[in-house]
Amino acid sequence: MQLTVDGNSYDVDVADDMPLLWVLRDTLGLTSVKYGCGVAQCGACTVHLNDRAIRSCQTAISDVDGPVTTIAGLGTPDNLHIVQQAWIKHQVAQCGYCQSGQIMQAADLLSNTPNPTDKEIDEAMRGNLCRCGTYLRIRAAIKAAAVALNTR
Ligand code: FES
Ligand code: FES
Repeated sequence: MQLTVDGNSYDVDVADDMPLLWVLRDTLGLTSVKYGCGVAQCGACTVHLNDRAIRSCQTAISDVDGPVTTIAGLGTPDNLHIVQQAWIKHQVAQCGYCQSGQIMQAADLLSNTPNPTDKEIDEAMRGNLCRCGTYLRIRAAIKAAAVALNTR
């Protein structure tokens, strides 16, 4: 099948039920997408499909019906996504392992709820776990990104 990831087209020859995460990491070598639990419980594997956040570990490749965006395609080095800019400003990352999934989830939240309340942030981010406990910085960065989004 044909797959578009971060604006690039790929031909992949894999089993229909192979999870998108496996295709991204093992077949295409796109290792910015992380494997945490494999059962939709941690959020580390979050990417966008048709501009919405999904868990790539639980999405069969046969269900991928549109463009996929990973953290590597969210912004460019010269033009980082507003969420990435806020993440840097607030120095959110600790070990970093969960952070690509956190940022993809946060970007999805802000694209649909540009001015989220604390409750909306907590609800949207609830499925993204961080073993380093960066939750307070994640929330601060999302709020800063929302302000930046609404004032540009
Ligand atoms: S690896 Fe997909 S949610 Fe944990
Ligand atoms: S920054 Fe280490 S797991 Fe989140």
